[in-house]
Amino acid sequence: MTGPSHRLHRHLISIEDLDRDAIERILDRAESFDEVQGREIKKVPALRGRTVVNLFYEASTRTSSSFELAAKRLSADVVSIRSTGSSVEKGESLKDTVQTLSAYDPAAIVIRSPHVGAAQLVAGWTPAAVINAGDGKHEHPTQALLDLYTIRSKKGAIAGLHVVIIGDVLFSRVARSNIFGLLKLGARVTLVGPSTLVPRVFEKLGVTVSHKLDEVLPTADVVNLLRIQHERQRKEYFPGIGEYIRLFGLTKERGKKLKPDCLIMHPGPINRGVEIDSDLADGAQSVILDQVTNGLAIRMAVLYLCGGIATP
Ligand code: CP
Repeated sequence: MTGPSHRLHRHLISIEDLDRDAIERILDRAESFDEVQGREIKKVPALRGRTVVNLFYEASTRTSSSFELAAKRLSADVVSIRSTGSSVEKGESLKDTVQTLSAYDPAAIVIRSPHVGAAQLVAGWTPAAVINAGDGKHEHPTQALLDLYTIRSKKGAIAGLHVVIIGDVLFSRVARSNIFGLLKLGARVTLVGPSTLVPRVFEKLGVTVSHKLDEVLPTADVVNLLRIQHERQRKEYFPGIGEYIRLFGLTKERGKKLKPDCLIMHPGPINRGVEIDSDLADGAQSVILDQVTNGLAIRMAVLYLCGGIATP
């Protein structure tokens, strides 16, 4: 988290900004909020009297709903704005929108934008804590945190695990945030996909790049499938659906190559029958819905640490 000092936990813009301790503090805090989900009254007063603004300039189901629910479970007042149906459609700029909403003195502004760097820009225009809910192909830090939390919950630890990220890495903010987080927590990471979407240059980050899924699958402790980001790529990056499935789809047949305790993850939304078959997405090794559930505890933790008055 960026800010005057990492210790203040002012903003959450990227996982690249965080050190291992900061990531683990968020995961530990999420664990304490997990307990709240089991209560009959699923609320704590941590942000009572404070306001959270959710500002979504791009489509979202999971991230927007869980940030809204997380803020409500922390007893905050919540304002949720989407670009469609708001004055953004009348041409209001991002800066004017942020400054207008900042007039309500929010504790935190959650922003999703198709533009790389949008969250960082917003942080310069508001006194509120800013949380990046996805900025173009740059980062999606809370997705990586909930993925790390899910792996840690299921496997006990992350260090030493072999995590295989499959698909459209080039255009994926989920992949970028996951790579930074997994490496900081000591996992070994392999990226697999067509060379157009998984170029060798990623090896500079400290990961392995492979274009042969069948060779990599048997050694994976976790596979994380990525959706083809049609909205962010041009046609020439993509080899064609049939070819993609043949080489990189996690089909029912390919699933037999996985270790029995290998976790199957996907940030959603899923293209069933493309990056993963329904048998596997809905099967015993899938933790896809656990990821959704864990997103709530992670976003409660992030809102609490960034927008709350407590110092972690
Ligand atoms: N994983 C994710 O960001 O999903 P949404 O686009 O539905 O928020």
